[in-house]
Amino acid sequence: MEPKHPIVVTSALPYANGPIHLGHLVEYIQTDIYVRALRLMGEDAIYCCADDTHGTPIEVNAARQGITPEALIAKYYDEHRRDFADFEIRFDNFYTTNSPENHAFSDLIFSAARDNGDIYTKDVELTYCEKCRRFLPDRYVKGRCPRCGAADQYGDNCERCNATYAPTELADPFCVVCGTPPGRKTSSHYFFRLGNYAERLRAWLTGPAKIQDEIRNYILTWIDEGLRDWDISRDAPYFGFPILGETDRYYYVWLDAPIGYIASTRNYCTRTGGDWEAYWRRPEGRIRHFIGKDIIYFHFLFWPAMLMGAGFNLPESILVHGFLTVNGEKMSKSRGTFITAREYLDKLNPAYLRFYYAANLSAKMADVDLDLEDFKRRVNAELIGNFANFANRSLTFLARNFDGVTGDFSEPELEARILEKAQRVIECYRNVELRAAVREIMEIGDIGNRYFQEQAPWALLKTDRARAHAVTSFTVNLVRILGTLFKPVVPRLANDLERQLGLPHQTFEQLAFDLKGHRIGEPAILVQKVDQVDIVQKDPMAAIDLRVARVLQCASHPKADKLVVLQIDLGTEQRQICAGIRGFYTDAELTGKNLVVVANLKPAQLRGQESNGMLLAASSTDALGVLTVDAAPGTPVRVADIEFDGTPRIEITDFQKVTLASQNGRPFYNGKPLQAAGADVVVDRGVDGGIK
Ligand code: 2FM
Ligand code: ZN
Repeated sequence: MEPKHPIVVTSALPYANGPIHLGHLVEYIQTDIYVRALRLMGEDAIYCCADDTHGTPIEVNAARQGITPEALIAKYYDEHRRDFADFEIRFDNFYTTNSPENHAFSDLIFSAARDNGDIYTKDVELTYCEKCRRFLPDRYVKGRCPRCGAADQYGDNCERCNATYAPTELADPFCVVCGTPPGRKTSSHYFFRLGNYAERLRAWLTGPAKIQDEIRNYILTWIDEGLRDWDISRDAPYFGFPILGETDRYYYVWLDAPIGYIASTRNYCTRTGGDWEAYWRRPEGRIRHFIGKDIIYFHFLFWPAMLMGAGFNLPESILVHGFLTVNGEKMSKSRGTFITAREYLDKLNPAYLRFYYAANLSAKMADVDLDLEDFKRRVNAELIGNFANFANRSLTFLARNFDGVTGDFSEPELEARILEKAQRVIECYRNVELRAAVREIMEIGDIGNRYFQEQAPWALLKTDRARAHAVTSFTVNLVRILGTLFKPVVPRLANDLERQLGLPHQTFEQLAFDLKGHRIGEPAILVQKVDQVDIVQKDPMAAIDLRVARVLQCASHPKADKLVVLQIDLGTEQRQICAGIRGFYTDAELTGKNLVVVANLKPAQLRGQESNGMLLAASSTDALGVLTVDAAPGTPVRVADIEFDGTPRIEITDFQKVTLASQNGRPFYNGKPLQAAGADVVVDRGVDGGIK
């Protein structure tokens, strides 16, 4: 036997700035299955993680909500822990990067780098908002793309033409927080000479580290092209740890985030009387990371370089997975496929998702698709049909007919085949080939189901009772093996089955056909079938077709004294709409204005006049202002990431599901502004209030 190494396994630390969603869960479920399997193999493995709590977005969001960053991260800490627990993600330690341990390790690693001569300071000129009195990271400056002119683009790249640039190149830039045009300011920053580590990184990448080939090649190319120094400091205001010896300069969040892996391990060891150095410092320690493909650069270059500088162990493996797609497309709020962990849990059993992800994950970087039809089909056919129902049939049969006690049996060929497959399952787990593990498990289930069906013990009961008993005793033994092999994937289910089998905690050591003369417990249904997968919840805004309309003509309604009748140009057509704004605008004031209308509202007759659409206006107690925008008639008016889904007709009740309101003269939906092709919609006369 190989000596046992202390292994620490990690998943990327989720930002304490939003809920856990199904995309995150790919990684946590993958890692959790792996760690559970390692432990069932008898490995000395722990699973450590933490919330990633520092950086500008957390600081800005807390300020926006009028709370401290500490309060914000505390809220997400509790929420994340609950979500993970309910998804049966079993961390040995789930900590926070805003911890004393992490602060100490950050200082330690920083000072080691400084003592090695890897740190220097340099003046940099950065975008600065005078009003907010803060430097603005790329995502906090917007403006028009310097290449294609698209409005409302972030400071780092254009979503319309894909150009990349510096925030300083934007035309008409503005601060995302306060809206004013930012200036420039010089500041002295700390830099880490990543280039000092080029050769050591190359040796690590091509030597002992277990790394997917595709990724190794990527990174070697980056090294060949020359590594740029890394800016590791940020100016106040910032939520993070002040740099050693400084008061208003902080470690960049990406410096202290991965150090959180060490801090969480240390915190675990303090709690349990272990020794963190056994993982991170001594030669026998093993570090295995799981990450997504968006954070490769940090984990394969900066992170190992930081560890090298401080004389820590290097990761033995970093496994990179792909992104989650839902029904073949990127998760999206407008399609309703941006599903949080909690929204899923409110409707469905976590075992289904754990099973489905496992059934689709390999050790490659490929994306994982959650196809909801396929999800339902496979969960019902495989997890439930092949496994859970089979288990229930076998146990129930033994309980009913043989007092729940297994007898003797002998199926040497089948037993050997199954035990060989069981070893293959373990190998698959070891290599994080979860899809292959599930396939092997299902094949064992197939063997069991076929055997039960062919032997038909219910018929044998009348002709050969002893044989019936042998058959069902064999299948109960097979169910036990199935259940044990499935423990990493569906732990709660497998534990329930263990209890029904009358067995204590099983490990992969106990994969044998040796339950003879064993009394099982009480059989019960393990899990219900999926009948409806109704987790996709569209944002009601997606069904509403808001568009820019130019007023061509305007007249008072002949019969209703509150209404005006407008002829509008919608780009591709002209229409008549009635609006209850009489008394607030003269006909001349309205004519020629570009307004915002709901274009797919069911037409109605209002006191004898057709109204084909609805005009939007904000009103306060005594004022009313129409929504206007500088964009061509017909231009769609949207909220950031919520595309129009093409619904041809909506009722007024559909429109009432969305709450629009104006603030500082700008219309918002769920805190996000309305825009038409990048141009901001504004409320005429700056009226603040509800929008109808
Ligand atoms: O990308 C992210 O979500 C980061 N919060 C991951 C950090 S992983 C580690 F380095 F801390
Ligand atoms: Zn500002």
